[in-house]
Amino acid sequence: MTVRTRVTIIGAGPAGLLLAHLLDRQGIESVVIDSRTREEIETTIRAGILEQGTVEVLSQTGASDRVLTVGQRHEGIDLAFAGEHHRIDFAATTGRAVWLYPQHEALKDLIAARLAAGQDIRFGVRAERVEDPDSDRPRVVATDGDGAPLEIEADWVVGADGSRSVARASISGRHSGAFREYPFAWFGILCEAPPSAEELIYSNSQQGFALISQRSPEVQRMYFQCDPDADPNAMSEAELWDTLQARVPGTTLNQGRIFQRDVLRFRSFVASDLRRGRVVLVGDAAHTVPPTGAKGMNLAVADVVLLADALRAALAGDDAPIDAFPERAQQRIWKAQHFSWWMTSMLHLQPGASDFDRQRQLGELRTVVESEAGRTYLAEAYTGWPLAGVERVLG
Ligand code: DHB
Repeated sequence: MTVRTRVTIIGAGPAGLLLAHLLDRQGIESVVIDSRTREEIETTIRAGILEQGTVEVLSQTGASDRVLTVGQRHEGIDLAFAGEHHRIDFAATTGRAVWLYPQHEALKDLIAARLAAGQDIRFGVRAERVEDPDSDRPRVVATDGDGAPLEIEADWVVGADGSRSVARASISGRHSGAFREYPFAWFGILCEAPPSAEELIYSNSQQGFALISQRSPEVQRMYFQCDPDADPNAMSEAELWDTLQARVPGTTLNQGRIFQRDVLRFRSFVASDLRRGRVVLVGDAAHTVPPTGAKGMNLAVADVVLLADALRAALAGDDAPIDAFPERAQQRIWKAQHFSWWMTSMLHLQPGASDFDRQRQLGELRTVVESEAGRTYLAEAYTGWPLAGVERVLG
């Protein structure tokens, strides 16, 4: 079967769904496909911190009301090191904030809004490849849930299909780009307990990094630095609590039943080409950041805000914004890469670190927390730089 539309979007994650939503607001039809089921998408646990600009886009375009009612506004974080706690006050330094709202909740809102608007989202449809990217009718060749072939022909194809992107393979080869791997990972848990602190704690400790995050008044998310090959099931609950507690001296963790464990590997990646002809990459298909600082989903939203406007212009005959898209998107991507790398390297224990390395790291942390400029830099980056093109998308 062949389907025709204006924009084919591969991937029903935050980038793909938000793009479909923003295009629809401009009267542009799209088809979204994803190899996963709706349930898988709505229940996979991901990060939970949304920049202020992300929240404004979601709430002011009608994509999510719940982000403001269920989500929790956080006006700072706690940076802990050398047995001390230091608050980074976002409100005082930047007047901005972030929201704690789990990514899968944002996805539920986006899917509900898209389906209510009668949009075409096809779950369980696997993109195999993109054909004719250089023509003005690129085609996505896919297979539906019953194994039947499906072709979607459009004016534009957007690869929002994550780090193992099929669209990227058709642009520049699967792994073409700047890549960096880290010698550690995060062990993540979800537990049934009340929050242990009002705000998130990012802790540099002698045993390694820990992050005390939250999900709701009843459920908490916590992470600790571990070996990339760690087996999530090898440790008992008691060992997990001992490991976490030892890394946040000065705070008593509220413990409770641990009902999910996972190991997140750390990678930095930026695809060498974000566009070929009529095919464009956004979100994790275009870049991966290590999780420290929670830039992943926010960066995807920034890509999409820029792209929605560029596609509107291109479909109206003006190619200048889409021609400028890769360069403009890359500028923010590299700022976010730097921030994520910086937070990671400042907070984690490098395997084999010498006493010099360790003391230098503490000197760096002290430089940040004791300087208004240092606290402001961290707060600006964490709460999110201004979103280019947001006025036209909100307007
Ligand atoms: C969470 C993840 C992050 O990477 C981060 O920096 C803060 C919070 C989270 O999952 O809650």
